Amino acid sequence: MPSRSRQNWQVIASCLAVLGIMCGIVAYSPTLYRMFCAATGYGGTTQRVAADAAAVSAQTVTVAFDASVAPGLDWRFAPVERTVAVHLGEQKLVYFTAENLGSTPAVAHATFNVTPQSSGIYFNKIQCFCFNEERLDAHQKVQMPVVFYVDPAFGKDPEMHGVTVITLGYTFFRSANPQNAKDLARFLVDAPPDAAHGKALFAERCSACHALDANKLGPALGGVVGRRVGSAAGYNYSPAVKNADFVWSADKLDRWLADPRAFIPGARMPVRVLDAPSRKDLIAYLERESGKAEAKPAIAGAASSEQAR
Ligand code: HEC
Repeated sequence: MPSRSRQNWQVIASCLAVLGIMCGIVAYSPTLYRMFCAATGYGGTTQRVAADAAAVSAQTVTVAFDASVAPGLDWRFAPVERTVAVHLGEQKLVYFTAENLGSTPAVAHATFNVTPQSSGIYFNKIQCFCFNEERLDAHQKVQMPVVFYVDPAFGKDPEMHGVTVITLGYTFFRSANPQNAKDLARFLVDAPPDAAHGKALFAERCSACHALDANKLGPALGGVVGRRVGSAAGYNYSPAVKNADFVWSADKLDRWLADPRAFIPGARMPVRVLDAPSRKDLIAYLERESGKAEAKPAIAGAASSEQAR
């Protein structure tokens, strides 16, 4: 039957066309892919993000913390504060303490959950100990930071009306594969700065906008320590940063990273690193790279065509 097989071909052809378009979108648009992941929280119940939410709303919500330890792991684990009130969109830093009560080192990993479950998509974690296997030596005690915000869209979702408390719960389990464990000692209060950890943080939290040797959305950062502020060749700075007048030191970087827009009002960098140990590690990395890597002259136009807001 020629007409039937022709119809079939038409169906197959249109399927292939749609598939082709979708492949094209995915291949050519990492941005769309990222938007998809950010919108769906793909890869976890809650999302992990690099930048501040665009706006901080006047509306607040209470976030409560819950911590427990599964049987078989001799740890004490608790939030430092039981609850905090946050403005929607506001970045918040909280701490959890963990202590190995046993007399041998132990590796564990944390799982988390957010209740009510439907609020999970609005709960964004920027930094958390929950992404890795973690190791605590015998009797070691650490304070672990979690940085999060609640998406302002929470306030506009009719399903969320009446939700006044979001609970973030963690459970630590003894780990089945302790080989890849990270050492929780990096959270010890007076741990020395760790440039290697700084490098990992840089890749995670800065490299979307910064490289060492080229301008991207933000200026090149190789050699930034000891460099005059706002002076990466070929980068189109905000007037506020261009007109600032000082040389980047560890101390100035610390204040900048804690809150760029408080340090230089009018600055355009939308990212903050709220916890001091991470700032210390990032700065140790930038200092190390400033010792050996000089910023290459920027590729003309790379910065001016992409303006950060
Ligand atoms: C979302 C993009 C973005 C991310 C992520 C980001 N930055 Fe930036 N950064 C910028 C922009 C844009 C500027 C320029 C600010 C201006 O001109 O007002 C900047 C400027 C800077 C400067 C000043 C450089 C100079 O030449 O004076 C430093 C230092 C810096 N960033 C460090 C960092 C570090 C460290 C991280 C990671 C924790 C980071 N930034 C993450 C966008 C970003």
